[in-house]
Amino acid sequence: MAASIVKRVSRVKKLNVSHISARYKLLTGFRHFSTSKQWNKALVLGVYENESTDSIDFTGTARKFDEKADGKISQLLLTVKKPLKCGKTRTLHAVDPEFSSVLVTCIGKRGEGYDELETVDKGRESIRAAVAKAVLQLRELGENEIEVDSCGDTEASAEGCHLALFSYDDLKAEKSRKPAVRISCATRYSQDKNSMEKEWRKGAILAEGQNLSRRLMEMPANLLTPTKFAEIVKEQLADKCEVLVRDKDWAESMKMGSFLSVARGSVEPPVFLEIEYKGRQSDSPLALVGKGVTFDTGGISIKPSQGMDAMRGDMGGAACVAGSLLSVSKLQLPVHVKAFIPLCENMPSGSATKPGDVVTAMNGKTIQVDNTDAEGRLILADALCYSEQFNPSLILDMATLTGAIDVALGAGAAGVFTNSENMWNKLQKASVRSGDRVWRMPLFNHYTKKITECQLADLNNIGGSRSGGACTAAAFLKEFVNNKNWLHLDIAGVMSNSGDVAYLGKGMSGRPTRTVIEFINLMSKETNN
Ligand code: BES
Ligand code: ZN
Ligand code: ZN
Repeated sequence: MAASIVKRVSRVKKLNVSHISARYKLLTGFRHFSTSKQWNKALVLGVYENESTDSIDFTGTARKFDEKADGKISQLLLTVKKPLKCGKTRTLHAVDPEFSSVLVTCIGKRGEGYDELETVDKGRESIRAAVAKAVLQLRELGENEIEVDSCGDTEASAEGCHLALFSYDDLKAEKSRKPAVRISCATRYSQDKNSMEKEWRKGAILAEGQNLSRRLMEMPANLLTPTKFAEIVKEQLADKCEVLVRDKDWAESMKMGSFLSVARGSVEPPVFLEIEYKGRQSDSPLALVGKGVTFDTGGISIKPSQGMDAMRGDMGGAACVAGSLLSVSKLQLPVHVKAFIPLCENMPSGSATKPGDVVTAMNGKTIQVDNTDAEGRLILADALCYSEQFNPSLILDMATLTGAIDVALGAGAAGVFTNSENMWNKLQKASVRSGDRVWRMPLFNHYTKKITECQLADLNNIGGSRSGGACTAAAFLKEFVNNKNWLHLDIAGVMSNSGDVAYLGKGMSGRPTRTVIEFINLMSKETNN
């Protein structure tokens, strides 16, 4: 620790006018002998928060780069009296002929870790946020090749930059798109370059999974129909997974009356995706289920038009399942996963389900559909029933299910309803690693009563009053699950990011993809899934 603190000693004398003019010489020099690529090379270095005004507490890598630059980095930083605070940055130019910009980013206090009240690893989160800010600032400066400090946690550093650099601008003119940036880990001073590269790759793959979820969620619903969703998933996963695309006739033959009752209002045909990743042989796969409503108008119980465009993200559960599978398969985790994704649109029309209609789910239970906007639970009911046929060791479903979970938790955490203490503990542990939090919610009989009191059928698809809306929705799903290890994640509150998560831009968030990948990783180590 002491070794990485650079003292403001004799070196500071070097920082005088001649040094400044040398900077300009260097700049001209760059222009003279370098290719444009060299011009665009930049470096991100981490420093810890440090009260002292005469020393810089560098990370191990940053200290080496400062030495390489004859201490110029620390000298320049110390010319300003105010020490860097967590999340703040300083950009330096012409301190190292290899890089046109060196951006120093503060990663918080040394030794920060798990915070019990926040249920998050603060050290890892600060690194993600600090490198994210750094690479975005460098992209603004036109840098396109950035070497990034591992900041003592290579995986978190890789996650932070790869998540930050995501943008969905495929539909914009070339000139309005964000420029492409190549990022790599600064491994040159590492004792064990191979393991550092491996960690970096893992972080990048975790981010890649979440970025696939974000892309799918952000895509407009006229382009991302159920059919197109299936096509993209096939394209992304086909070489690592088996992808079966089932059609409406298949769903009819399976007696998925609940799922089909939602799809019937739209001219877009429904699709039921079944995906298998076999990273190991086992008779009890881990089952993932995702709500795939590619657009939710509410149906006949139509939603207000303001903000309805966000309902293109109502396939967030499906997207997070696809994103998780991409990462799990790229990481080649030794686990057997089966995924089930019902996809359809929820539209009002002459053929749409009407309030008061009664439909029959795959397990024979009848459902009175009093509100056609509570459609997520209807499509999940059949998908959950179907998943049970494969003897899964656990079932984890994800769904942008209720506005009520947003009222309860906001974007702070995904709501988790589970019948297993053990599963809850594992998921929570996974979320501490990912920084994408979860919060446990109740599955009391109290809520079951609200949906079983029904005039015409076994179940009503709404709970009667708005109170406890996320809990009645979960209680409804519970009627279609027998598995002793079931987790339902209501992700409506975390669907989009409006600035809460520093390393995710504004827009669809892809949360909690990385938590689920970490959870599957944990499960792959513990059981014979
Ligand atoms: N897709 C919505 C839930 C939602 C709301 C997702 C906000 C993302 C952001 C869901 O299908 C829905 O409309 N739920 C209703 C249920 C109600 C009718 C019982 C809701 O939450 O209002
Ligand atoms: Zn709805
Ligand atoms: Zn919905």
